Amino acid sequence: MGMPARREAQPTPRATPSHFGRSRCLMGSREGFSIQTDASVGGRRMDEQRDGSSCTEARDYTTRHLALTLRVDFQARRLQGRAALTIEALRDGLTSLTLDTRDLKIIKATSNGLEAEFSLGDEHSFKGTPLTISFPFEMLRGQQAVVEISYETSPEASALQWLTAEQTAGRKHPYLFSQCQAIHCRSMVPCQDTPSVKSTYNARVSVPKELVVLMSANRDGELPDNHDESRKIYCFRQTVPIPSYLIALVVGCLESRVIGPRSRVWSEKEMVDAAAREFEETETMLKTAENLIGAYVWGQYDLLVLPPSFPYGGMENPCLTFVTPTLLAGDKSLSNVIAHEISHSWTGNLVTNKTWEHFWLNEGHTVYLERMIGRCMFDEELRQFEANSGWKSLLEAMETLGPTNPLTNLVPELSDTDPDDAFSSVPYEKGFALLYHLEQLLGGPEIFMGFLKVYIQTYAYSSITTEEWKKCLYSYFCNETEVLDQIDWNAWFHSPGIPPFTPHYNTSLTDGCISLRKKWTTASDSELSCFSEEDLKNMSSQQKIEFLALLLLEPPLRLNKVEKMQEVYNFNGIKNAEIKFRWLRLCLRSRWEKAIPLALQMVTVQGRMKFTRPLYRDLYNFEKARQQTIDTFMKNKPSMHPITAALVAKDLHLV
Ligand code: BES
Ligand code: ZN
Repeated sequence: MGMPARREAQPTPRATPSHFGRSRCLMGSREGFSIQTDASVGGRRMDEQRDGSSCTEARDYTTRHLALTLRVDFQARRLQGRAALTIEALRDGLTSLTLDTRDLKIIKATSNGLEAEFSLGDEHSFKGTPLTISFPFEMLRGQQAVVEISYETSPEASALQWLTAEQTAGRKHPYLFSQCQAIHCRSMVPCQDTPSVKSTYNARVSVPKELVVLMSANRDGELPDNHDESRKIYCFRQTVPIPSYLIALVVGCLESRVIGPRSRVWSEKEMVDAAAREFEETETMLKTAENLIGAYVWGQYDLLVLPPSFPYGGMENPCLTFVTPTLLAGDKSLSNVIAHEISHSWTGNLVTNKTWEHFWLNEGHTVYLERMIGRCMFDEELRQFEANSGWKSLLEAMETLGPTNPLTNLVPELSDTDPDDAFSSVPYEKGFALLYHLEQLLGGPEIFMGFLKVYIQTYAYSSITTEEWKKCLYSYFCNETEVLDQIDWNAWFHSPGIPPFTPHYNTSLTDGCISLRKKWTTASDSELSCFSEEDLKNMSSQQKIEFLALLLLEPPLRLNKVEKMQEVYNFNGIKNAEIKFRWLRLCLRSRWEKAIPLALQMVTVQGRMKFTRPLYRDLYNFEKARQQTIDTFMKNKPSMHPITAALVAKDLHLV
């Protein structure tokens, strides 16, 4: 029909700042899409641009805006509504569009208001089901069209956890939350579910009146639901273009407290005051980050404390970081997670990995910034302590995954791997190790921060690959090419195992942990009486965590030592989830049967995967606990988070 597509008035993305600091020879070559084919050189794929985790063709189309209209049905455990995508053609002659979906029921599709034909393809094991919409017209490069899809989610949507009232702290109202990273958005919204595409969004969400809705956006008022008096509609607007994995939704009986000039903390009322206290450093962290890396562009920075089944420590949803309640230690000792999620406001949310193979760009830089915030708020010793413990967790990950495992590459190949299965500490800590190595080679933290600031300014509002990052590095340090050329880039990026360079950190804050560890590993039975609660008196929570982490890198302690440790330190009585987690692992490895019910309890009362998966694995490897562990999992499974349930099932060899 060749009907010209309507050009929608769109909020214009902010222009990329052009202030390049001390950069002298920055080359800009990220404009446009270079069409590459799936060639392979020396066994390595050349096409680092294409997103193998998505069915959409991001070189043909991009999404400029998403308008969501949703009704939340707690009885049916479904979202029902419409997603209107403003798409733009990136080349001439396109007549159909393929979107990502997973377990969605597609009711109707229109393009520019006219009913359009659509078809669902075959379901892929982890990519979901492609949805192809045919246009009754040909799209020309630069032309926009509005594609509206009416749909329903499935009760099994992998992005959503539906909690019954009994599963909440208040026990009166149901609760719903989403977790889209990495590729779960497609089970909530039909979309180009790839981080290479960024769009603004707005949303209208209808829920029962007594509930509150929040999204990863600024709040934009409330309306009555004219179809249903018992409901109301919450409106949202995200004016900064974001990738689909940052779309987020929560519905529950939520309250909030102001914790800073641009920050509130939200949760069920049972935890809201404790959360306000735990996270009172938020504004200081935001200011510290802004001083380091540039203005915070997202408006509000709120925190949401989720129910205990939330699968991550934190999730950097724009305007509203999601966090696990296991951060509520009472002493702010786990607040580095907040520094981490704040840092994502630049690394990840402004400059985004183009595909999940470049995930280290998000996480490695974020860990680097997180630790710089620690350095500014406290001192370099703290940064060295955290970097050192990060290195230890990299060594542990290498042991768990095996040093030749291709998933231990900084830039892994993911065309046949679900990003959830690839997740580990490697992109975080190998990424940090590379950045710290560069910092040391290139003149120290202040100089390296100069580069990071320019890196953010250069690529803000876009999605990039490791090659583009490297180009920016070479360009910023164009007078240090010889230094940079000495780096074995291929080993860092494309080889498995521990990095080609071992960092040396100052251990002044770790020394106490190291000597206490040694005392325990070397003590003979007759020397056990030398231990007492005094040993821990001068240790911070982080140092207790480190002490246990160091013991976990050693062969298991004999059972009588673990029993003695309980007698003198009473770790069983400790609330701090990071301490408790490592303590229970230590006990299970020493085959202490008394720890079995405690570990089964910990995997049941909370669902943070960092704790739940290793504990389930250790329980499984403890012959005496195995059957009970499988029974516990099977019993809990229906009420677990879908992502956690799927991964634990694999860990327990049940699928
Ligand atoms: N973005 C991640 C969480 C994530 C990663 C969710 C990949 C889904 C897929 C978040 O920023 C994160 O890294 N959280 C860590 C915090 C820690 C490194 C301080 C966590 O959850 O433990
Ligand atoms: Zn992160």
